[in-house]
Amino acid sequence: MNKPFEFRGGKPLVSEQAGVVVKRVGAHLGAEVGGVDLRQPLSNAQFKAIEAALVDNELLIFRDQNISSDDLMAFGRRFGELTVHPFAPNEGKNAPELIKFRNDEKTPPYGTDVWHSDETFRAEPPMATMLVAKEVPAVGGDTMFVSMTAAYDGLSDRLQQFVSGLDGIHDMKPFRPLFGKSEEERKKLQHFELMYPPQLHPVVRIHPVSGRKVLFVNPQFTVGINSMEEHESRALLDLLFRQALVPEYQFRLHWAPHTIAVWDNRSTQHYAVHDYYPQRRYMERVTIKGGPVTGVPRAEPSTIRRLKYVAPAGVDVHGGHKPH
Ligand code: SIN
Repeated sequence: MNKPFEFRGGKPLVSEQAGVVVKRVGAHLGAEVGGVDLRQPLSNAQFKAIEAALVDNELLIFRDQNISSDDLMAFGRRFGELTVHPFAPNEGKNAPELIKFRNDEKTPPYGTDVWHSDETFRAEPPMATMLVAKEVPAVGGDTMFVSMTAAYDGLSDRLQQFVSGLDGIHDMKPFRPLFGKSEEERKKLQHFELMYPPQLHPVVRIHPVSGRKVLFVNPQFTVGINSMEEHESRALLDLLFRQALVPEYQFRLHWAPHTIAVWDNRSTQHYAVHDYYPQRRYMERVTIKGGPVTGVPRAEPSTIRRLKYVAPAGVDVHGGHKPH
C-alpha cells in the first residue's frame, strides 16, 4: 500500500508572518511569496519568515521584483556567504558571485538541460540558489523543479533501506568539454581537477533544518556509487535518477520578467528547458554557500516499516508455491 499523501503535513495553503504572504502553488514543492519588496532591506522578522518558507516549500517564487544585480546579491547574502562558480560566466573582479546566463541565437544555452542540484561536485554544495528573469522568450524557457524529498519518500521501503548508508561519487564531468586540447588548456583543466577532486556524498542525506530524508544523486554530477561494481552502480543510479522524472514530484515554473526563484539546493533538483533557441533569455543567478552533507546510517532490517509488495497467500517467498 502506498503511503498516504499528506499535503504539506496538514499546513494551510496560505500563511502570513511578518507581512510575508506564502501561498503554496505546487503539491510537493513551490510557493509564491508576496508582501515584500526585494529592492528594500528585509527586516529580520521578514527574513526569518522567508527562510522558514524556503525549507518548508523547497522552492519560493517572487513575482514582479524589478531588482538590480546588487539587490539580488544583497538578498542572497541574507542567507549566507555567496559562492563563486568556477566554470560559469561571471562578472569578473567586480562581482564574481554573479552569474549571467545570456542566451540567444549566437549563444545557445549550455549544460543546464539536465536534472541536477547545483555544484554537487563540491565538498560542500550550495545550500540555495537564486535566479532572476531579466528577459524571457515569448514562448518556452521554463524551469522544471523536483522535490527530492518526495522522490525519496516515493521509494519502496526495501529500496530506501538498500540505499541508506551508500555514498555517491560526484564529479565535475560536465565542465571538462569546456577546455580545449592545447597544452595550456590541458594544464588549466588539470588545475581545476586538483581543486575539485571527485567527492563522496551520501545517497540519502538528511536536510540539516527539516531533518527530512532526501535522495541526493543527480545525473549531471553523480558518476557512480562507492564500493559497487560499475554495472551495479550504473543500474542503481539509472533507477534512482528516474525518481526525478516522476511528474507528481515536479513543479514547472513559467517565468515572466522580474520573477525570482529561490530553491533549496539541499532538497531539490532542477532542469532548464532548452526549447526557446534562438530566442533570447537573460537570467542572473547567485548561489549561497552550503555546509557538510550528512547522510543516514546504513539501515538495519528491523527498520523496514512496511512492504509495498506482499506475496499473495499460498506463495512461499523462500522458494516457489506451497504444495497443495
Ligand atoms: C541553472 O541550472 O541554474 C539554470 C536554470 C535556468 O536557467 O532556468
